[in-house]
Amino acid sequence: MTKQVLLLPGDGIGPEIVAQAVKVLDVLNDKYNLDINMTEGLVGGAAYDVHGHPLPEATLEAALGADAILLGAVGGYQWESLDIAVRPEKGLLGIRSNLKLFANLRPAMLYPQLADASTLKPEVVSGLDILIVRELTGGIYFGQPRGIRVLENGERQGFNTYVYSESEIKRIGHVAFQAAMKRNKKVCSVDKANVLEVTELWREVMTDLAKEYPEVELSHMYVDNAAMQLVRNPKQFDVIVTGNMFGDILSDEASMLTGSIGMLPSASLDANNKGMYEPSHGSAPDIAGQDLANPLATILSAAMMIRYSLGREDLAVRVEQAVSAVLDKGLRTGDIFSVGMTRVSTSEMGDAVVEEL
Ligand code: NAD
Ligand code: IPM
Ligand code: MN
Repeated sequence: MTKQVLLLPGDGIGPEIVAQAVKVLDVLNDKYNLDINMTEGLVGGAAYDVHGHPLPEATLEAALGADAILLGAVGGYQWESLDIAVRPEKGLLGIRSNLKLFANLRPAMLYPQLADASTLKPEVVSGLDILIVRELTGGIYFGQPRGIRVLENGERQGFNTYVYSESEIKRIGHVAFQAAMKRNKKVCSVDKANVLEVTELWREVMTDLAKEYPEVELSHMYVDNAAMQLVRNPKQFDVIVTGNMFGDILSDEASMLTGSIGMLPSASLDANNKGMYEPSHGSAPDIAGQDLANPLATILSAAMMIRYSLGREDLAVRVEQAVSAVLDKGLRTGDIFSVGMTRVSTSEMGDAVVEEL
């Protein structure tokens, strides 16, 4: 049966990079019977400008009804002074929470062709293949109470609440352990259990859960050390599981191990592998509208969508191989450029991937 894919290009470079992924999906539809129907919706600042809200009712309805969602990015300078409740980012967070997309998978894999593009020494990153499993619908991002209040002395105070319930920790833990079973059977749980009770509980629950996965080796690491170890010796990791905010920060750090944040895809999944797929980077307002952005993280996110939500592993592999072939040819957007390579634009990179298909 034809699957419904909702495209949410969003803001900044979002429309430019999603357009490249659509070219790829069009070819897969025409040539390899992917059998999807794509519709487009508004989210983020683009939605705010039309409807006064970053997640209009129609977009949420479409998202709930779709088999999968491909999102570009949201946010930009022009919306930064808006009330936080209607900021573009709230549109993205609203989809994640309404669709219960609690499991964010961010695979940091170095294409060998890009060993020179990383700011780290080639021997530190060569062969890198780690998976960050980030909890996406809880933690300090969503904890209540939150806000800015006025204290008795007239001074303002900002506050957020860092909470995780046992069931939330367990369900993301299962995702990490199950992923590790298909990989190198190692999970590193990252927390701040030396200071924060919420992650003391996180550590306890992960330790208990590990008993259900005797083949998997569980280790624990404090987040500050993890940030350091990721650049010291990233290949010590297989699967990293962590909360929403630590996962946000560590995945941007990990992206540089793969050459550029423009290379890091992601899948945000619910309990039934329904999902939203998005590059891990943002709307890059500094380069938006200039045909400069790297579309590969978005194209690779589309590959994850094809794998997890559309059930076509064969075509996901095909897309990943096409990306690899394009890198073999020496084609590089500015963010992954190195001497001797051929510099291409966003759309030329998209065309090159299409050509390989
Ligand atoms: P960013 O990821 O947008 O950009 C950081 C840097 O990386 C910039 O120099 C940018 O040019 C570069 N970059 C990012 N993606 C790139 C790509 N595909 N190709 C080449 N270079 C790329 O982060 P930021 O500057 O902190 O945030 C900008 C806006 O994006 C903010 O409004 C933020 O809230 C939003 N944001 C959205 C998402 C999302 O939609 N998932 C993620 C992160 C940030
Ligand atoms: C990401 C982004 C988002 C997050 C923002 C834009 C809400 O940084 O997808 O990594 O913090 O989750
Ligand atoms: Mn982020």
